[in-house]
Amino acid sequence: MHDKILILDFGSQVTQLIARRIRESHVYSEIHPYDVDETFIREFAPKGIILSGGPNSVTEAKSPRAPQIVFDLGVPVLGICYGMQTMADQLGGKVELGNVREFGYAEVQALNHTGFLEGIEDFKNEKSDSMLKVWMSHGDKVVDLPAGFKLMASTPSCPIAAMADDDRRFYGLQWHPEVTHTVQGRAMLERFVLGLCGAKADWEMGHYIDEAVEKIREQVGNEHVILGLSGGVDSSVAAALLHRAIGDQLTCVFVDHGLLRQDEAKQVMSTFADHLGVKVIHVDASEAFLQKLAGVTDPEAKRKIIGAEFVEVFDAESNKLADAKWLAQGTIYPDVIESAGKGKKGAHTIKSHHNVGGLPETLNLKLLEPLRELFKDEVRELGVKLGLPPAMVYRHPFPGPGLGVRILGEVKREYADLLRHADAIFIETLRNTIDKETGKSWYDLTSQAFAVFLPVKSVGVMGDGRTYEYVVALRAVQTLDFMTAHWAHLPHDLLGHVSNRIINEVRGINRVVYDISGKPPATIEWE
Ligand code: XMP
Repeated sequence: MHDKILILDFGSQVTQLIARRIRESHVYSEIHPYDVDETFIREFAPKGIILSGGPNSVTEAKSPRAPQIVFDLGVPVLGICYGMQTMADQLGGKVELGNVREFGYAEVQALNHTGFLEGIEDFKNEKSDSMLKVWMSHGDKVVDLPAGFKLMASTPSCPIAAMADDDRRFYGLQWHPEVTHTVQGRAMLERFVLGLCGAKADWEMGHYIDEAVEKIREQVGNEHVILGLSGGVDSSVAAALLHRAIGDQLTCVFVDHGLLRQDEAKQVMSTFADHLGVKVIHVDASEAFLQKLAGVTDPEAKRKIIGAEFVEVFDAESNKLADAKWLAQGTIYPDVIESAGKGKKGAHTIKSHHNVGGLPETLNLKLLEPLRELFKDEVRELGVKLGLPPAMVYRHPFPGPGLGVRILGEVKREYADLLRHADAIFIETLRNTIDKETGKSWYDLTSQAFAVFLPVKSVGVMGDGRTYEYVVALRAVQTLDFMTAHWAHLPHDLLGHVSNRIINEVRGINRVVYDISGKPPATIEWE
């Protein structure tokens, strides 16, 4: 049983980062909505509780509050931003509506008489005060400390920037320790979870394998499991983990929709079937997918067709496996948090994201989600520990509908073949070009990179002849969360080289362009 930190989410954009940072310090933590009930919190038995930031103002009527049990349980509590304000308000302090928003970099003066910040400092100012470089984001501010609290840090515009009650071990920070802009953020969170809560740092992927294997065996017994393998990181790691746990009781179904990257099907089969000895059924359904997509140009319609056809093919294969009782999926923790938040915060879909392996309800199978508790970086670490090739595990993400949303308008086999070839040249060049400054390849320096097929023809010359052929666009972005992204400033030589190779080697393409749009307003994919 791991020591656990409970994070109550008040709706901040960066709540997930709190959990990730804490897990990076090898302490297990989970995020739950701020209004979970008392029984849940008692049963969760946290070693400490963190109240996240959020978009509301505690001065508004009916704004969210932490359940009283948080302050009665006798464990350390850390309020961050809104979390600090609601803590102040609930414990008898005062919060005032701010008229200016302070957002971004700030230098705060730390007052070192509390256990929380002791020894944590970025520099000393001319008066020898301990100073911290932090990331602030607030409108309202605490103006009166609750009884029992001391001032812990201050800025000219936010005199109560942090507060502490060392006796009850309650702490409040107006800044965000979870974002990397707060230089000592990690030290602060570690001070809280390891020092003040005394949580054991025992969350480690190497050990997690044994735990997970045992849990899967207990859950599944001697029944059979099927899993839709897409070649993506999540389903691949789920397959490797399940195989480790239950061996031949696992059958993977790999549906090739004909819209995969170059050699992807071969790689999946060689990694799983040949090297790991996993039972994989390879279904080449490309003809059926392409037939269904013929004449369809609308991006959402294409996604829906691909999604529906996937479920149909997967269903048909699964029905042949009469003794399967479980359907395994590569759901990861951010999926769990995001779907819990849906509806509540009114998150609206910009694109309907078809995830390969969407649950076919007709199968009547029990659901098995062995990665449900893990963040993406943990999933990757686990994958490598399970023996998957690092190049597969650290691959850029690839959308479920595959090249279907990278061929603009109607999808045709001819277009998919041209695009696959062009894309492979781009990716190979990114992998082989090392940036001198960082020593990393441009593949590793970008978060996602790919080619897009434009079904328009333009004129060119080649040798003595005039050509009239298609255009390919290259897209490469840098992002942490894929919600916003910058276009990557790839070296011109690299772009020139890719363009030359594509035009010379891919018959049917005579022009290559580079996409320099950020997200927003553009999206990462073109459809
Ligand atoms: P956008 O284009 O919305 O992409 O900026 C953000 C991230 O989501 C991926 N993406 C998809 N993934 N099914 C998926 O599984 C989809 O339909 C889909 N559309 C976009 C995209 O590749 C990027 O990583």
